[in-house]
Order: sequence, then structure tokens, then C-alpha cells
Amino acid sequence: YLRHYIEAGEPRIIGIGRELLAKRRAGSEFSAELAVGRVQGTEPPRFVGFIRDITVRRNAEEALRRSEAQLTVAQEIANLGNYVVHFDGKFEDYWSPHLYRVLGRRYGEPYISVYDYLEPMVHPADRARWLQVRGELDRGARSMDIEYRVIHPDGALRYVHHIAHTTRGPDGRTLRQVGTLHDITDRRRAEDEARQMQDRIAHFGRISTMGEMAAGIAHEVNQPLTAIATYAQACQRLIGSKDVSTEEVATALEHIGAQALRAGEVIRRLRTFVKNREVRREQIEANRLLEDVLTLAQTDAAHNGVRIVLEPSPLSPQVQADAVQIQQVILNLVRNSIDAMLDAPEARREIVLRTHVDAEGDVEFMVADRGTGVDTGTMAELFNPFFTTKPGGTGLGLSISRSIVRAHGGKLWCSANPGGGARFFFTLPAVPSSAGS
Ligand SMILES: Nc1ncnc2c1ncn2[C@@H]1O[C@H](COP(=O)(O)OP(=O)(O)O)[C@@H](O)[C@H]1O
Ligand SMILES: [Mg+2]
Repeated sequence: YLRHYIEAGEPRIIGIGRELLAKRRAGSEFSAELAVGRVQGTEPPRFVGFIRDITVRRNAEEALRRSEAQLTVAQEIANLGNYVVHFDGKFEDYWSPHLYRVLGRRYGEPYISVYDYLEPMVHPADRARWLQVRGELDRGARSMDIEYRVIHPDGALRYVHHIAHTTRGPDGRTLRQVGTLHDITDRRRAEDEARQMQDRIAHFGRISTMGEMAAGIAHEVNQPLTAIATYAQACQRLIGSKDVSTEEVATALEHIGAQALRAGEVIRRLRTFVKNREVRREQIEANRLLEDVLTLAQTDAAHNGVRIVLEPSPLSPQVQADAVQIQQVILNLVRNSIDAMLDAPEARREIVLRTHVDAEGDVEFMVADRGTGVDTGTMAELFNPFFTTKPGGTGLGLSISRSIVRAHGGKLWCSANPGGGARFFFTLPAVPSSAGS
């Protein structure tokens, strides 16, 4: 620069803001900005110069560059992209580099507004829901939080979790929306697989529970069949006698019909219970679940000389649950209690089924018996798959029950019954009070 000045005589030697690496007298280096110029009309020439230490600014720029790079890497790892849409026209909209990947576009393709780009990609089955949530965000909601499917330009189906927030000016006009799109396809696939596996195990569990209850069930179906046979014999006798009373025959036939319906009803209930089916959560009264189990378990219990006592909560709490799966859990526990009391004296053979609203407002179910009880050593092992102390046991009842309860957001545990025997508890989260109590 100096040589250029001397040869060409240009008044400005070094333009404004040249960045140089400078050295302090003590030897340490620093980033500097240098500007030197000739003062006009001076002869011999005079110069004026500025030197500014820009270490702080350089460090900030460097930190910004680094944090942007780190953010990009983090977004790649998380498979998450973000965007900003400005509505006041002061700034350009923003797509983070990884957002292009999440939405199946190539980085650097011409600009298109995020929502315009997204809308046609949303899976047709999810579009109405998406449009509704989007509409709410535009009409005044502060934020949206929704999971849906998108179809990429290449036809790939992905699940995304989309969160967006709106910032509004004092007059209520939308200034900008910032949002993130998280590709959760892998997680969703894993969840789907886990759910299917859980369904298969639960189904298997129901079949094996029915196997354990076979004696009771056979008894339950056998009773109406015996009654039918008896009435049929009576009819034959009546028809054979000289003075046939059509009235008596009609009554006997009526009984036959009723008993056949009763047997059919038992089989229908069993089929509903055992059928491989979709998991369906619905709001249901906790006490209803106990009563329904009673109809399935009572014959089995009576067959083994066991009484079942119901202690339903007077608060009639509601739960959000798959009724068949929860019945399966209670039946498993009742089955185990019956097994545990086979050698108990008649007077002690009693199972208490109780519902109760706990301190957190969750619904606690209890199945208590006066059987052999569980010693503290085995308490921890009970819930392991295949742990059994029964000659024909599968050891799966409790582990399946625990996974069902956990899938419902509750927990299942065991403790000793103060009067001897065991008590099993499980909880189901309370349904928010606006819907029930
Ligand atoms: N109510 C109970 N009283 C005493 N022991 C129990 C009770 N319920 C379960 N157990 C113990 O836990 C084990 C595992 O139960 P479970 O998982 O239902 O499998 P299974 O009934 O096929 O043995 C039982 O074998 C038994 O030793
Ligand atoms: Mg069992």
C-alpha cells in the first residue's frame, strides 16, 4: 500500500477498515482495523491514521460462525429443521439447512414459503387436522403442536412433529412465526412395532388366562347344557303321557330356550375377551371394569370355593383405558389369588376387589387375597417373564399385566396383606376432572 502511494500519489493510502494482524510491543498478536489517509493540502504531507483493536468483534463473529455450525450439526443429529416466517416484510423468511432435508428438498433451491410448500405434502388423511391447527394459529392461537405424515416429492412417507409459535405486535397483528419440524419416523416405526408386539403378547396372555380358567368356564357352560338336557327329557315324558299338557311343554321349551341363550352368552363373552383385536382406549367407569370381571371370574372362583367381594369407590372415578386389557389384568390377578388359596381353609378363601382414588387423584385398583402370600425374597422376581412357582404355570401373567398397565401410564406392584396373603395394586391415571367428576 505504501509503495502504491509513493508511486501513484493517490491521497488515500489505505482505505477504511483494512483488517490486519498486528503485533503489540510485548510481542502478542491481535486483530486490528487500520485506516490511514493523507491530510489534504499539507506540504510536506501529513497523515492521519486510526488503528482499532477488533479482537472482541472478531471473537464474536467466530463464535457466531461456530454456533451456527454446531446448530447445523445438532439439527442433523436430531433430524430437526427450523424456520422463521416474517409477516411484516422487514426481514427475509428463513429455512435452516436441515429443514430442506426434513422436507425432502435440495438445499439452495429457490425460495418458497414454508406453509405453501408444506400444505400439498401433508398426507391427505391428516390434511383436515393440519389445516385446522394452522388456521387456529393464524387466527390468534399462540402456538401449534401437532404430529402428522408428509409425503416427500420422491414419494417417501415420513412422520413429523411440528411445533410453531406466533409473535404478535401490540395491535394483535402477526409479526412472525417460528417453528420446528422434527422427523420422528424412526421413533414412530419403533413405537408401532412395540405396540404390535405388545398386542400379540397381550393376546397370547388372554388365551393362556382362559386356559387356566378352563375348568370354571366348562362348568359355566355345562350348567345350562345339563338344564337343557333335563328339560328335554321332561318334554319327552310329557309328550309320551296320555293327557299331554301343552302348557307344561311350552314352559319346558321356554326354559330350554333361556338356558341355550345363557350358554351362548358365556361363549360370546369369552370370544370378545380372547379375540385378537385393535387396542381401543375409551373413557370408562373404573367400577364397571370390576363388575365385568366379576361375571367372568365368579364361576371359576365358586368352583374353587372362593368368594369375591367388591369394594367399589363411592366416587365412581373414570379412567381412560382399553376395557378388555384392564379386565385381563384384573383376571390375571384374580386367577393368581385363587391359585394361592387352594390350600387355605374355606373360611379364608376370599378375594377383595377394590377401587380407590389416591392422593394424586389417580385410580388405584386392588386385588387382595388370604393365600400363601409372597416372601420378600421373591417379591422382586414375580414380575420377571417366565418366573413361576406352579407346575403348569407360564410365569407370564404378571409380566404381561405390568406391561399393559405401563402402556396405560400406570404402575403395578405387590405388597403383603396385613392379615396374611398378598395384595396387588395397580394405578391408572385419572381422567381430567372437566370430563368426569
Ligand atoms: N396372589 C399371589 N399370592 C402368592 N403368590 C403369587 C400371587 N400372584 C402371583 N404369585 C407368584 O408369582 C408367580 C408369577 O405369577 P404369574 O406371572 O401370574 O405366572 P403364573 O401364574 O403362570 O405362575 C406365581 O407363580 C406365584 O409364585
Ligand atoms: Mg398367573
